[in-house]
Amino acid sequence: MQNFSFYNPVKIVFGKNTISQLNQLIDKKDKILLTYGGGSIKKNGIYKQVKSALKNRKVVEFGGIEPNPSYETCIKAVNLGKKEKINFVLAVGGGSVIDGSKFIAAAIPFKGKDPWQIVKSGGADVKSVIPFGTVLTLAATGSEMNTFAVISKLSTKEKLAFGTPLCYPRFSILDPETTYSLDKKQLRNGIVDTFVHVSEQYATTNLNTPLQDRFAEGIYKTIIDIAPAVMTGKKDYNSRASFMWCATLALNGLINRGVQEDWSTHSIGHEMTAFFGLAHAETLAIILPAVWKYELKNKADKLAMLAENVWGIKKGTKQQKAKAAIDRTVKFFNFLSMPTSLKAYNLTLADCQKVIDRAAKRRWQIGENGDINANALKKIFKLCL
Ligand code: NZQ
Ligand code: ZN
Repeated sequence: MQNFSFYNPVKIVFGKNTISQLNQLIDKKDKILLTYGGGSIKKNGIYKQVKSALKNRKVVEFGGIEPNPSYETCIKAVNLGKKEKINFVLAVGGGSVIDGSKFIAAAIPFKGKDPWQIVKSGGADVKSVIPFGTVLTLAATGSEMNTFAVISKLSTKEKLAFGTPLCYPRFSILDPETTYSLDKKQLRNGIVDTFVHVSEQYATTNLNTPLQDRFAEGIYKTIIDIAPAVMTGKKDYNSRASFMWCATLALNGLINRGVQEDWSTHSIGHEMTAFFGLAHAETLAIILPAVWKYELKNKADKLAMLAENVWGIKKGTKQQKAKAAIDRTVKFFNFLSMPTSLKAYNLTLADCQKVIDRAAKRRWQIGENGDINANALKKIFKLCL
């Protein structure tokens, strides 16, 4: 096990009818910038619940943060926040609204000339952040309990992540009932994103971390168990509650303590969203099985462990079990109606050359062993056809 420190100060308020607690969670003196997305919260009653909890409070609103939040949109919110002298940001939405709001909260007090530097520096140039909280409406990213944000720059077709301990939300309200209005595609995407988050921290090198492994397997098993109930689209509280908590715990800095991490699937996937407009989870479902096949030898220990402890495959050699884990994972994604090939999106190797060129330009050496460079990426894309 590697050395580590562990710190996560996010207050989670979980359960039915918890949005009403907003008034107590935000200081009475604060002037709030309420940020949201394309309007789903106005259709499903969440906006009404938030406004009713914050009645008699000073609130300025900014809507229109799009999926894969853009720098260009977020900057408009930054200007509004500065003009209105707000001192608290409340994000109400999915990962995109929360990520966009992390950027907004960091960019309002930013002293540098170009706020894109916040993203380009990976968060290192962030010196202070306006306090912010979240009301989560979509289980997937874990952004509600972590320090990361992924922001897209439309003008350059870039999609980059930044993170700093200053970007922990003060609190996050997780009411599973807010997910009742998600459509089946969004539910599917959330399940796959959660599964791949666990994978990027579990299917790496075996460093003898049994507790972390059992935590990860617990999330895998729970998400696989509840997936059929979630995918019916019915208002089933218990499966939605477990789904939401799984997604949060999959990327809140617990299961990756002391382990080796991969994140190559996410790095490649972000480029595919930037170039081809695929949803985040759609890119992951194509890339993860291919990365696993390409890295079969290096990941054999952990993939065999996945086969045994999660998929219940007890027979065969380590290699056979590792391969079976990949097959079962692909089958699981397909069961969710999630495609796992480039072909499903009419993408060819020639299209993917853009991603390979960018990997070459950025001198990528990603994956837990730093062995995925532009050449390797070409081979990985061939495995995605
Ligand atoms: O914009 P609105 O109208 O709210 O609609 C959204 C959006 O169209 C809708 N939606 C959200 N909650 C809903 C709802 N519709 C009905 N009922 C509800 N309760 O769902 C659509 C997708 O929302 P979005 O926030 O984009 O989805 P998600 O939570 O999957 O976030 C994806 C973004 O997060 C980044 C991704 O790259 C992507 O940009 N990620 C952030 C991470 C992090 N901060 O740690 C890690 C992840 O790996 C990921 O990269
Ligand atoms: Zn993700």
